[in-house]
Amino acid sequence: MKDAFGRSIEYLRISVTDRCNFRCLYCMPEEGLQWLPRSEILSYEEIAEVVTQLAPLGLRRVRLTGGEPTIRPELEKLVALLRAIPGIEDIALSTNGSRFPEHAPRLKAAGLDRVNISVDSLRPGRVRDIARRTVTTPPVDALLAAEHAGLSPIKVNVVVMRGINDDEVVDLARLTLEHAWHVRFIELMPVGDMRGATWEHVVPSEEILDRLSALGALTPCAGPARGNGPAVYHRYSGAPGTVGVITPMTHTYCASCNRVRLTADGRLRTCLFGDAEVNLRDALRAGKPLEPLFVRALEEKPKEHALLQMQVGGLQALSQVGG
Ligand code: 5AD
Ligand code: SF4
Repeated sequence: MKDAFGRSIEYLRISVTDRCNFRCLYCMPEEGLQWLPRSEILSYEEIAEVVTQLAPLGLRRVRLTGGEPTIRPELEKLVALLRAIPGIEDIALSTNGSRFPEHAPRLKAAGLDRVNISVDSLRPGRVRDIARRTVTTPPVDALLAAEHAGLSPIKVNVVVMRGINDDEVVDLARLTLEHAWHVRFIELMPVGDMRGATWEHVVPSEEILDRLSALGALTPCAGPARGNGPAVYHRYSGAPGTVGVITPMTHTYCASCNRVRLTADGRLRTCLFGDAEVNLRDALRAGKPLEPLFVRALEEKPKEHALLQMQVGGLQALSQVGG
């Protein structure tokens, strides 16, 4: 499965719901969101059908995202359906961690391989200020639950915002000295509610790495074995975990983009930014084959996004397009 620029697409991010129990500063508006009606959301069977039809074309890895995927009831049923599809080698989840301790064992038993958990702060008051909702699960408890359940590798997503949580990067990096966790610092993208934020809250990865060296010398390394996303990894001497940076703002990695996205209402989006998408749901519900739509979507996958030009006026929050 190759697009017009020779990139093979083997990774699908699946948004299972547009809803979330948080309202993170960099993602959703605090109030006044309209959720998709239930009838427009793909059922678990419909999602599994999309993946079943994509697998023979080369799809190998899937990630469940949202919104917050764990608030959709019985998510483990979807995991089990996906696990049974021949060719799917890797099933991952992205979660805000708030309900993860209760879900981790069931998800693992259903066949989940691994998890990315958002941890933007280790300080309870600040966690709440960023999520703009009451958060009862300390982020580290979600990470420990993942470790306990045997999910691996465990990746930690930190969106770094100047003046908001950038003073915690060293504290977060310190987690890698004790645990085999892969803490990735993500440059803030000024989309969604942060649309108005220009460079004032963006901390370039060079600056993050510079601050991280206060804790010890960093050696570049390969990072976790599974999942080859855009992160660049480093390790402190003798540490079981790694630190990484993800640089949507200061470097474009479109040339090696290996992913497409499925929205909760069944649109296949070939780029996180811009409007390139194909509606799969209607064909799916009419019993028509999806392959011609996949082929069209890939032909139209853009070469790169325009984020660096800061043409961000009309962009949706990541929660609406599957992260
Ligand atoms: N900028 C950078 N990262 C973001 N994420 C969501 N919105 C943004 C943004 N505006 C990241 C969060 C979340 C993951 C799915 O995407 O870390 O965990
Ligand atoms: Fe919810 Fe994730 Fe968006 Fe935060 S970043 S509001 S947890 S979907």
